[in-house]
Parts: sequence; structure tokens; C-alpha cells
Amino acid sequence: MAGAEPKPVEMLSNEEAKSELERLAHEIKHHDELYHGEDAPEISDAEYDALRRRNLSIEQHFPDLIREDSPSKTVGYKALDKFGKITHAIPMLSLDNAFSDSDVRDFADRVRRFLRLNAEAVLQLTAEPKIDGLSLSLRYENGRLVSAATRGDGVVGEDVTENARTIADIPTVLGGADIPEIAEVRGEVYMTLDAFRTLNERMEAEGKPTYVNPRNTAAGSLRQLDSAMTASRPLKFFAYAWGEMSEVPSDTQMGMVEKFSEWGFQTNPLMRVFDEIDPLIDHYHAIEEERASLGYDIDGVVYKVNDLALQRRLGFVSRSPRWAIAHKFPAEKAWTVLTAIDIQVGRTGALTPVARLKPVTVGGVVVTNATLHNEDYIKGIGNDGEPIRDGKDLRAGDTVQIQRAGDVIPQIVDVDLDKRPADAEEFDFPTICPACGSHAVREINASTGKLDSVRRCTGGLICPAQAVERLKHFVSRNAFDIEGLGTKQVEAFYQDGLIANAADIFTLAERDERSLKKLKDREGWGPQSAQKLFDAIEAKRSVDLNRFIYALGIRHVGEQTAKDLARGYGDIEQFTNAITGLNGEESEAWRELVAIDGIGNTAASALQEFITEEKNKTVYDALLGEITTIAPQAASTDSPVAGKTVVFTGSLERFSRDEAKAMAERLGAKVAGSVSAKTDLVVAGPGAGSKLKKAQDLDIDVIDEDGWFELVGDFQ
Ligand code: IVH
Repeated sequence: MAGAEPKPVEMLSNEEAKSELERLAHEIKHHDELYHGEDAPEISDAEYDALRRRNLSIEQHFPDLIREDSPSKTVGYKALDKFGKITHAIPMLSLDNAFSDSDVRDFADRVRRFLRLNAEAVLQLTAEPKIDGLSLSLRYENGRLVSAATRGDGVVGEDVTENARTIADIPTVLGGADIPEIAEVRGEVYMTLDAFRTLNERMEAEGKPTYVNPRNTAAGSLRQLDSAMTASRPLKFFAYAWGEMSEVPSDTQMGMVEKFSEWGFQTNPLMRVFDEIDPLIDHYHAIEEERASLGYDIDGVVYKVNDLALQRRLGFVSRSPRWAIAHKFPAEKAWTVLTAIDIQVGRTGALTPVARLKPVTVGGVVVTNATLHNEDYIKGIGNDGEPIRDGKDLRAGDTVQIQRAGDVIPQIVDVDLDKRPADAEEFDFPTICPACGSHAVREINASTGKLDSVRRCTGGLICPAQAVERLKHFVSRNAFDIEGLGTKQVEAFYQDGLIANAADIFTLAERDERSLKKLKDREGWGPQSAQKLFDAIEAKRSVDLNRFIYALGIRHVGEQTAKDLARGYGDIEQFTNAITGLNGEESEAWRELVAIDGIGNTAASALQEFITEEKNKTVYDALLGEITTIAPQAASTDSPVAGKTVVFTGSLERFSRDEAKAMAERLGAKVAGSVSAKTDLVVAGPGAGSKLKKAQDLDIDVIDEDGWFELVGDFQ
């Protein structure tokens, strides 16, 4: 922050130190509340960290003056448990992104291929603005609003019903016709730019902190504990999607949105339906032109397949629908100074350079860090070996242009060499891991034969940075998701030797019982918060198999691969047997593994590498002694293929291979890539070869495509 340089700590008098500690305690508490309670940070992360560092350094010099309410006694922020939780009847998903016109064409081509539409078939798409607010799911029963929930993690959101009732755009009773008994209407809560400015003027006049942007303000206003406060903030709502509907009153996306409007919702006036891509892209550019005069923030245009029957066939991949995409507006850019290049060591040992920036506001957000990817990137060479930034290297002291698009980590796109200080030195990328001192090397990629762009620490399990990152990954949102055990707590617990590996998390409570220095007596903790953490850990002793696999943090085993594995093996015993049996490409276990659709040699080799490392196996076994896993639920249990393993081979004509797979999985089947004794059914199209032969040899049921539709027709 601007102002005089603070006095060196050594030169502070007792009185000065005391009063500065008091000031810092209040200031840091204030920023904590702003950041976490109101979604409105006032200072950059770097400035906040500086305050905490200053506080700590004074405390180190004046230990007698440490205050009861010192910020150093709080182990980071603990989630405000203000609202009740609501589990969404149907998860709230996110959207895949397109960044260029050609990404949009690719999207349409992908959809057409998936559906096997021929060249003449018309594929109708809707286009509407992507509102930059926060999504909300409104549940109506017999036409009356019964609950309102934020998106949360997509599965469980916060119950903000009382606050939603204060928003004029949200009807408490639906009007019009065709109202299903259960209707969940979803859309975006947002604040107009006018309302945002007026609110900030008022805040300023009252000497209160102002908000950063309309989106944060809308989020903060909706999440007020006091509904009267929400009511005083002018929030608005556009309806554009739905969750559970006991009856779907239209067969198109546009028809549904028209219904919403009849029921009393605001819908976006710029929504249109297109039969072709060119006019759709023209509409995107028209909306882009109009963006500044709309009066509310938008960050792109969303396209959706208009026909709901096709939407259903397309289904979902991971967390987003195959039938929609968000075409984002170009990233916002700004110039600032690169103050330093730091190296972070990741979970898999990757040495990742991070740019520390002089704080700069880009698109309403203060940016202090940017990713630098790898050492070639710093030198001005992209991942594909082509020059980037005209091949200009980056040095501390450089003036750089950064770009921020959506939630993506900011990137450096340009450097102004005219402003380079004379003494700026070329960055010397370390070849020794800064965390453990082991050699850091660039391997030759086995499949491409090229030098890997990433330099990795070879310290493996002895590297503390990797250990901490693995733990952070283990407890992260899409893995074990343990409430109250976040990044800061993991770091502190690891440092103090309380948790060295994932299995230790589950023995924490028991060890605490026997310990002389109990968690409740640690700085920043009390009996209640300690108990709450133990309860949260206890609650996760039972976890979905796919989350467990993902939590292991094995290279090349991301969320989707973990799901494929969980579905492929069905339960933890099978999975454990399978991976412990891996012994090179020739082993039976390997062959079975790569027969699972979606799993290739890279993941197989990473799994083998993981489990053959004795220390990993020890932790793995210890974990299994502590937890139980929940087998994946078959999507549909009453279909004739539920629980069966199906192989599709030969060419398919009525649907694409991808759709076949998605349909079979929806109906509860496992789809395998090769035929084995475990295969129950082979669907063979024209041109089927060795797989069909093998099926016949093994006496496995074989049907053709028409046979498939006859079999599952009623269940789709
Ligand atoms: S459709 C299944 N339409 O964007 C897909 N989303 O990145 C449901 N959003 O969480 C979303 N405007 O909060 C859709 N016209 C629009 C939207 C929109 C804004 C947000 C929404 C969602 C996020 C996805």
C-alpha cells in the first residue's frame, strides 16, 4: 500500500510495537472478513501477506506483546457456516469454453459427429449472453417457491431461500399455464452497473469499504445473513436453465425459456435461435458490440443445442454438457512490472515458475501473480517449440503485459524491451529442487521422443514440497473435500509433524487424544473448532471410489480417468488387485487395465510406477485400513444391460461410437475397448474383425446395431 516505509522492526519501541500490533490485528481481521464474508477483497493478496508478515516479525521481536486476538493465532480462515446446505436434485454444471470462432465451429462439428447428423440435417443452436453473476437454483412445488440454492460445488449449494424471496425478479408464486408440480428454474443473479455504482457511492459516503465489481457484490449481497440487507441491494435475475422438472413443458431450449417468461421470470432479450453457424457467430459479434451499453456485465455468449431430445442424447462429459458451450469474449489485458520469478514445486515434482507482479487491476480483479509455465516459456518458446512473445525472454524488472480470461490463471503475453532495466539479468532456471535439493531434470518423453518441457524434482517421496502438495490435493474439493482442512491447515500440520501422509489424517483425532499438546490448545484453535475438524474427517471415512482414486494424486490420473477406473473395476478390491498386479505391458493386469475405455499406456504406466514404490504402497494400505469406498452407482439398474460389460466394434451407422458409449453407460453398462472372458455382450457393426472373432471363440453374445436398439429401446 502507498505510504511511508514502515520503520524497521528492530527500531520500534515497546510502545510503538504494541500499538502497531493492535492496529495490525484489527486491519487483518477486517480484510479477512471482507475477503471471506463479503466476497469483496480491498487489497491484493501480496499486500495482505505483507500485513501478516509484518505482524509476525514484530511478534518475533516482542514475544511478550503477542495479543490474544493476534492474526498469527488463526490458522487461516475458517469457513463461515452461515447458511444451511441444499443438495441439488440434479447437479448444477459448468460450461466448456470456446475462445475463437473456429472453436465454435469445432463444437458444432463435434455435436454433429456425436449425433451422426448428415450434412443436410439442420442443427439448431440458441445463442444468448453469458451473464457475469452467480447461478441460483429455484425450486417451485405446485407453483410456489420452496427453496433457493447457490451453485456451491455443483452438488451441494447454500440455502439462500429467504434472501432470494427479496429479489423482485424472482416470483414467489408462478403465473401462467403448464406449471409442473415440481419445477426447478435456474438462472443468474446479477447487479446492474448503475446499481453497483450507486451502492459504492453510498459505501464511500459512509466511509465503508467499496466493492470491486458487480459480480462480487451480487454474490456478497445474496449471501448476507440479514435478508433485510439483501433486500436493500438491487439484485436482478435472468432465467435460462432448469433442474428437476416433473414434466418438461416444451421440447426446445427456446420453448422452455419462453415458458419461464410466461411464468413470470425475466429472460434475456438477446436470445435467438439459429439454423446455421455463420449468423450465430455474427450474433456473437453483435452482442460483443452491444456489451458496453447493456447495463450489466456479460463475459461471453452461450450456445445450446435447441432440441431437447438431442440434448438428452448428447448428455454430459465430466462436469459440462456436450450440448452447450460458452464463447468467451477476448481476454482483458494490462501492463505491469514483473518483480520476481519464483519457483514452486508441485505434487508430481514439476518445478513451476511463477511471476510475481506489481499488483494491477485487470477486468475488476487485482492480479499479483501469473503463471510462467516452464523454463522454455520464460525464454520465449511455447509448448509446441514455436517462439512466443516474438521469442522475447522474461526477466525480473521487465514491464510485461498480462492477460486474464475468465477464471484462468493470468498469463504474460508481451514484454516491453525498451523498458528493460540495464541490470536485468536473464533468469537462471534451477537444476536443483529448491525444496529438497535433489536434482531436477527434464526427461525425454517416451511417446514423443522429445525433451519434456517440464523440469522435475527427482526427490520423490523425500521432497517435502511434493509431500505437502500431495496432501493438499488429497483434501481438495474434488478429492476428499474435508471441510476445515484446507491449504493453510495442511501446511501447518505437515510442518509440525502432525500429518506426514494422507493416512495420518484419519488417525489425527486418535493421536490427539493421547497427545499432550492437543489441537484445541494450538494457536488459532479451540475445543469447538478442533472437534469440528475431527467430525469433518470422520464424515469422509466413507468416500466415492472415483474420488479416492483421484485423491491419490497419481500422474496422468485426473478426475475423468479416476471415474473410468472406478467404473471399470467396480470396487476397491478389484482396483487394488488390478494395480498391484501390474507388471509391464505384457502382464494380464495391464492388458485388462488398458481394455477399459479411456485408459491408455500412459496412465497404466503411472499407476504401476505409483504402486510399485514401496512407500506409496504402505500409505495406500494404511489408507485402506482407515476408510471405506463407495462403489460407483450404475446409472440405471433396471435396463437389460445394467452391470454388463459391453464392447462396440465395427462401424456403427445409427449413432457414433461416442454416443454408443455414453448411452451404454447411462444404462448402467461398462464399456470395454477389447473382448475378454469378462465381456458380456458385443455389438458388432459391418467390418467387425478380430474382436468379433474373439467373441465367437469365447461364445459371447453378439448382436448388431439394430439388435442393440431393440434391446435397450424402451429404456433410453
Ligand atoms: S447454461 C448446464 N446459460 O455460466 C449448463 N449458464 O460456466 C447450465 N451462466 O454456472 C448453464 N449465463 O452461472 C448458462 N445464459 C447462460 C448463462 C450461464 C451465465 C453461468 C452459469 C454457469 C456458468 C457456466
